[in-house]
Amino acid sequence: MNELLFDPETHRKAGRLLGELLANYERDLSKPPGFGQIDRDAMRVIMTEPLPEEGRSLEELFQEFRDVVMPNSTHVAHRRFLPYVMPSPNGISAFADALSSTLNQNCNLWTLSPAANAIEQRVISWFHELFSFPEESGGIITSGGSMANLTALAIARDTYLGKAARTEGLQGRTSPLRLYVSDQVHNCIDKAAVILGIGLNHVRHIPCDAQFRMRMDLLKEAVLQDRREGFSPFCVVGSAGTITTGAIDPLEELADFCGEEGLWLHIDGAYGALTILSERRRAPLLPAGRAHSLSLDPHKFLFAPLEAGCVLVRRAKDMRTTFSFVPTYLSMFSDPDFLNYAEYGPQLSRSFKALKVWWSLRAFGRRAYAKAIDDLCDLALYMAQRIQAEPELELLAPVTLNAVCVRCRNLSDVQNERVLARLLSEGVAFLGRAEVRGKFSLRACFMNLRTTRDDVDRILEEMIRIGQEERTA
Ligand SMILES: Cc1ncc(COP(=O)(O)O)c(C=O)c1O
Repeated sequence: MNELLFDPETHRKAGRLLGELLANYERDLSKPPGFGQIDRDAMRVIMTEPLPEEGRSLEELFQEFRDVVMPNSTHVAHRRFLPYVMPSPNGISAFADALSSTLNQNCNLWTLSPAANAIEQRVISWFHELFSFPEESGGIITSGGSMANLTALAIARDTYLGKAARTEGLQGRTSPLRLYVSDQVHNCIDKAAVILGIGLNHVRHIPCDAQFRMRMDLLKEAVLQDRREGFSPFCVVGSAGTITTGAIDPLEELADFCGEEGLWLHIDGAYGALTILSERRRAPLLPAGRAHSLSLDPHKFLFAPLEAGCVLVRRAKDMRTTFSFVPTYLSMFSDPDFLNYAEYGPQLSRSFKALKVWWSLRAFGRRAYAKAIDDLCDLALYMAQRIQAEPELELLAPVTLNAVCVRCRNLSDVQNERVLARLLSEGVAFLGRAEVRGKFSLRACFMNLRTTRDDVDRILEEMIRIGQEERTA
């Protein structure tokens, strides 16, 4: 047998070592977080090792992973890891990822991935159903929300430009395209605007109301003003879950306005769209189904590990207009039951990410997700209530989803930054940093399936204690 392959006994041994490691990993997560304590000598050994001439045994590799890689990794699954919209992965996905690598399907042409193709189509159509997207809609699994948003905005731009999109791009235009977003939008939209040649001077950041939702009156004014001045408004991006506070823009009003004005409505639902799985939380998200495109992230509220994003597009044919290039070496048999996903997005070679999304939903079902989402959003509400009852703490924004922005009252921004740093260095919790109306904020984002009210109580007690120490330091 070729040296690069495993015989059946080695496969079994590797499986046992992996199973043991995963079981122990779960046990080790109950230890104090200890974030940020890196063994720099061990890291230097890794960074300077010469290319190995000979291979090592499985036991050695697993031992090294346990002794060096794991202790120097950020334990995102720890119950007090709360800085980002980044979940602790669900139980099934690690196995789905292993199987996806085993089959190594190339999800570009259906002939290279028939079952994966059926699975990706089904997953996308479940998402269509959740938001009542019409029959002719399309979609594709992406690496994450940033790629989903970039994909959607490329399609929006090209639909606006028509045939010139492919031949001239933006080169021949005298009237610059204009994109409208709120001042709370995730910066990957700005990045996409730069990549797509729109330029930041043509992204208008519309101020928000007291709930951090885009102000419709100011959006209307901006579009009218731009039309008067000879610009070309083409797209509005609404957020279903803004990155800092989790606010949801007025999606119904955005859909009405974009319909009246002939503008493409894209919704960045990378953070919050999948909270539609909870019946208690679906109402404000339902109008997202009126958008021309919608991003959502299974690697957030489906608790799939990185990477798994998704974009839904109202008319599948608009995706092909942007992305379908079929040279002879890629032309393949077409079939009415299957799609060549290479024609629906920017990538050619694509891994079988749909498996972990499909298995996540099939292993646990919608009801388990609804409960997990509700529990985490309720935890955020609990934290907000406790903060409001503490005179030493200040809640900086209303809680819509699962993010809480908080700071110590009567401390400066710099002192609050120190509170954040000490929570981390003293092993209490890893919280995030944010800016809310010009004030520095600590931010707890509850995406972790192990976090409890006791963790919230402990974090707040420690925040108050450290805040008092900083005040008198
Ligand atoms: C609202 C929003 N949009 C986009 C993104 C980017 O998504 P990703 O990290 O999957 O690229 C995030 C990430 O947190 C987000 O919260």
